[in-house]
Amino acid sequence: MSEEYPYRIAVLLSGGGTNLQAIIDSIELGKLPVSLAFVASNKAKAYGLERARKHAIPAYHISAKTHGSQHGAEQEIYRLIQEHQVHLLCLAGYLKKLSPFLITKMRHRIINIHPGILPFLGGKGLYGHHVHQRVIELGMKISGVTIHLVDEEYDHGPIIAQEGVAVADNDDADSLAERVLKVEHKLYPQVINYFAQGKIRLEARRIYIDD
Ligand code: GRF
Repeated sequence: MSEEYPYRIAVLLSGGGTNLQAIIDSIELGKLPVSLAFVASNKAKAYGLERARKHAIPAYHISAKTHGSQHGAEQEIYRLIQEHQVHLLCLAGYLKKLSPFLITKMRHRIINIHPGILPFLGGKGLYGHHVHQRVIELGMKISGVTIHLVDEEYDHGPIIAQEGVAVADNDDADSLAERVLKVEHKLYPQVINYFAQGKIRLEARRIYIDD
C-alpha cells in the first residue's frame, strides 16, 4: 500500500478474502482514502492472508492455537489495534464469535458484512453459504447484503446499510451467492468510507448516514 491516510482500519477474516480484495482495490484506486493497518485470520491457510501479503500489508495468523485461547487471541488482536492506532475493525468472513472483551474495547467500532437480510436470515449457523441455501429453500424472491455494527450477539448489532438482490427463478445457492458477493464488494468499501468521513451517527440503535 502506497499512500498513508490518517483513518486506519484492520480486517479479520477466516477464508478467501474477496471482500478484503475489494477493500484493497478501492484503496489502490483512490476511492477509499483509508490505511489498511493489518489483516488477521484465525486460519493460518486463509487465502485472505496471502492477498494481504501480496500488497505488503502485515498479515497475521492469530487464533486460540497460536495464543492459548480465544481470549489470548483477542488480546493480541487488541494489542495490534492499539499499536497501529486502528479506528475501525472490519470483519470480512470472520467465523469466530468475538468475546465481550474485544467488543467492549472497540464498542461501535467493529463492523461486519453479512450475505443476507438481517434480522431475518442470520444468527448461529446462518452464515455464508447456509444463508443462500436457506433463501432458496424458502423460495424467497429477494435476498441481499447487510452491514451492521457488531455487538455481543450474532448478527444483531444496529444495521448500517442494506441492499437487496433479486432471486431469479433459476438461481441455486451458488449463483445467488455470486450476485450477492458483487453487491458486498461495492457496499463494504462504501460503508467504510462513510466511517472514515465521520458520516455515521448512531442514535438509540438506529444509524444515520449524514450528508
Ligand atoms: C461473505 O459472503 C461475507 O458476507 C460473509 O462471509 C463471506 C466472506 O467472503 N460474512 P470473502 O472471504 O470475503 O470472499
